[in-house]
Amino acid sequence: MIPGSEYHRPVMVDEVIGYLLTDRGGTYLDATAGGGSHSFEIIRRLEEHGRLLAIDRDTDAVTETAGRLQQFSSQTNIVQGEFGDLKYQAVESGMAPFCGVLFDLGISSHQIDDSARGMSHREDGPLDFRMDRGTELTGATIINRYPQKELARIFFEYGGERNSRKIAAAIYDHRQKNKYSGTAQLVETIKAVTNPRFLNKTLSRVFQSIRIVVNDEMGQLADGLGAALEVLAPGGRMVVISYHSLEDGLVKNFFRDRKNSELSILTKKPIGPAEAECKITSRARSAKMRVAEKL
Ligand SMILES: C[S@@+](CC[C@H](N)C(=O)[O-])C[C@H]1O[C@@H](n2cnc3c(N)ncnc32)[C@H](O)[C@@H]1O
Repeated sequence: MIPGSEYHRPVMVDEVIGYLLTDRGGTYLDATAGGGSHSFEIIRRLEEHGRLLAIDRDTDAVTETAGRLQQFSSQTNIVQGEFGDLKYQAVESGMAPFCGVLFDLGISSHQIDDSARGMSHREDGPLDFRMDRGTELTGATIINRYPQKELARIFFEYGGERNSRKIAAAIYDHRQKNKYSGTAQLVETIKAVTNPRFLNKTLSRVFQSIRIVVNDEMGQLADGLGAALEVLAPGGRMVVISYHSLEDGLVKNFFRDRKNSELSILTKKPIGPAEAECKITSRARSAKMRVAEKL
């Protein structure tokens, strides 16, 4: 049976469980609850006094996870929050210090499929891109207001897009006449200046870069890893699954900078999913898991 739901199919469940659960009576923190599938796989393996705190910045994820974990409500606490306030949430829950903290980064299938968020270039939607719809910055502000140079930097730095300057110039020209209101307009602009052979990859890169900036994903990750280290018990483990090289690089450096002083690294190289899993969940193909233990 494949664990998970329509909301989101989790990746590398066996690997996560294998590394994360060191004490079945302990407390755990799932910092990216999503559809609650990893959370479910953790809590169902814990003994009666084991506890789980599940956090997500997206209210849809909190509702979904609460439903998923209903039968374990006396052992779980599910809250809305972001990596930036992870330490506060962890202390507030009364469950810290934790035996394990899980980060399954990026976005859920639900967030991509929900066209009202505009995260997919395959369907028209508003230029929103927010995981937490309570935050202020949206994709529309970036696309309609940021200076051309800044757009080019964003597409290059967070998307690795080599055509970044050309795309930024085309966006700038378009918005002089017409402000952007939806993702289909943005797709049309990019299409007009991109070789059709590379179009899909280019669209993915540009959309990823806007999403990273709107959600301050790199700043959040740095804050989250720091907070996780503080709320872990000695011997507790941090399991981090990332989906693009910027995230993975940040995790790798965070672990390396603390190696032998605060952390012991349990995965010399990042672990990827088994081929069989990639066949079922294509999104799993880019997953990289790193694990470290607090000294
Ligand atoms: C890949 S999904 C997690 C899926 C989950 N492991 C499951 O089993 O369903 C990533 C989730 O992390 C959340 N997220 C991403 N960045 C976050 C942040 N800075 N703070 C809190 N949640 C975040 C997203 O809203 C999304 O729901």
